[in-house]
Amino acid sequence: MAQYTTQGSYPFTRPRRMRANDFSRRLMAENKLSADDLIYPVFVLEGENKTEAVSSMPGVERKTLDNLLVELEEVVELGIPAVALFPVIDSAKKSLLAEEAYNPNGLVQKAVTEIKAKFPELGVITDIALDPYTSHGQDGIIDDSGYVLNDETVEVLIQQAVSHAVAGADVVAPSDMMDGRIGAIREALEIEGFTNTKILAYSAKYASAFYGPFRDAVGSSGNLGKADKKTYQMDPANGDESLHEIALDLNEGADMVMVKPGMPYLDVIYRVKQNFKIPVMAYHVSGEYAMLKAASANDWIDEKKCVLEAMVGFKRAGTDAILTYYAKDVARWLAE
Ligand code: PBG
Repeated sequence: MAQYTTQGSYPFTRPRRMRANDFSRRLMAENKLSADDLIYPVFVLEGENKTEAVSSMPGVERKTLDNLLVELEEVVELGIPAVALFPVIDSAKKSLLAEEAYNPNGLVQKAVTEIKAKFPELGVITDIALDPYTSHGQDGIIDDSGYVLNDETVEVLIQQAVSHAVAGADVVAPSDMMDGRIGAIREALEIEGFTNTKILAYSAKYASAFYGPFRDAVGSSGNLGKADKKTYQMDPANGDESLHEIALDLNEGADMVMVKPGMPYLDVIYRVKQNFKIPVMAYHVSGEYAMLKAASANDWIDEKKCVLEAMVGFKRAGTDAILTYYAKDVARWLAE
């Protein structure tokens, strides 16, 4: 008869027991990523039959609408619910007052209409901000000193948002960080009868250096030069401030909120979800994508494993959907 004298000297509770088998690891998994959690950002060019690589974002291409429509077939087949559309505007169409932003026959407006005609079930999200349209690359109208004027900018954002809704956008996503724009846009959409056009508010958008490759992709980095966006985008040092911004945007009628960038701001995502229990999206931005791509290209990290780990990290923090340039890869990997 064995002597059970080891009681107390061995742990009764062993968290490793549940980790010992695949079945028990699966049973206890708290979060699960699916294609339903993804939003795919795309860059659209003027003209026809052109596809261009973005050098700081390997694997990402900017393409004309005809070529984009072909790619979207794949996006739909992969089960990705929505795309976010970003235009590359010819420099001749950029101006101080960004009039092209609300041209009913502009690049975004035409693209939205054609995408919705071909893929009625695919959610189309458009960016509301003036940076693709201003000659100086700021997200709004500036005064002589270069300061971005709030209320004057909001007037233009309203027109931009309504023109996107008229074109058929399902979701307008103000990424400009002007004060009061969500309420102003919501009111205009209601007046125009677009009661079901949703607003995804970039409520907690930080003045981040991780946007660099995106500015190359949309061609605004040259226009912006050495200027920054610190007078409207938030200071990366702040967390409480994001809760204030989100409270305001929800109060003004936002349906969903965005935290941006993603990975360095998981604490913000967590706090937002805990405090408000509303749909929270995260933008896994261009610089985050570029880092993962660069390390993978050097074989320093396993791309698929690291990206999937990053994605589940977003879920764990409280994210409902992730806007990521990796969306197609992630959907493919999940289906394997
Ligand atoms: C501009 C906008 C930016 C991004 C999306 N919309 C850049 C900026 O604020 O300068 C960045 C996205 C990314 O880095 O992937 N309104």
